[in-house]
Amino acid sequence: MSTEKEDFSALLAEMKEYGESRHVPIINANGLEVLVNAVAAKKPGRVLEIGTAIGYSTLYIAANSAEAAEIITLELDEERAAVARSFADRSRCGKNIRILTGDAGKRLLELTGKFDLVFIDAAKGQYPDYFRKIYPLLAEDGVIIADNVLFRGYVRGGVPVPRRFRTLVKRLQEYIRLVTESGEFKTEIHENGDGLAVSQRVKKRDFLEAEQNEET
Ligand SMILES: C[S@@+](CC[C@H](N)C(=O)[O-])C[C@H]1O[C@@H](n2cnc3c(N)ncnc32)[C@H](O)[C@@H]1O
Repeated sequence: MSTEKEDFSALLAEMKEYGESRHVPIINANGLEVLVNAVAAKKPGRVLEIGTAIGYSTLYIAANSAEAAEIITLELDEERAAVARSFADRSRCGKNIRILTGDAGKRLLELTGKFDLVFIDAAKGQYPDYFRKIYPLLAEDGVIIADNVLFRGYVRGGVPVPRRFRTLVKRLQEYIRLVTESGEFKTEIHENGDGLAVSQRVKKRDFLEAEQNEET
């Protein structure tokens, strides 16, 4: 193992410890394994992440993407984004990572160009909205990965959903329908962890137009 790689592993371990000790939510080990495998298989040249936190998943994504891949990551919390920036700058991938602060629902509307891979890991109640905004930005053979889609086992039914989570669970169910029922995505939901959905776009169909036609 090269010194550079050893330094990178040490940096990731430090970030994990930082997240855990300060109760910053970061992807769990099971989800991380699925995420890393999906990114490594795709080798994307341009990636969008929604929900940076301290940039833990961001660095794993950057390290497993194509050489010099551009990574844009969105974070609401300015303080977390600043911590993510300083961790990213200590890695060899830092220069390829852009962190945009503010509400992802708004920032998504400012983005242009196509993304090969999108990782959704922010406000769970907003996943359908994120999907609709990401859709026009997704490459024809793009992949969308979404964390926590099974949210504590509530999303697939069979477990009573506390009142305070009902809207959130409905939105996650809607997200799952969006990536499974249009026929445009091949979606695998990995149940370990909190549910990680990997959706590979398999054919071109104008999803938004189809959705509008179904409504009329
Ligand atoms: C689960 S954490 C992200 C963890 C990170 N992806 C990782 O695994 O290392 C979710 C993050 O989304 C951010 N977030 C929540 N709502 C958001 C919004 N509306 N716009 C942008 N970021 C948001 C939170 O501040 C939080 O840092």
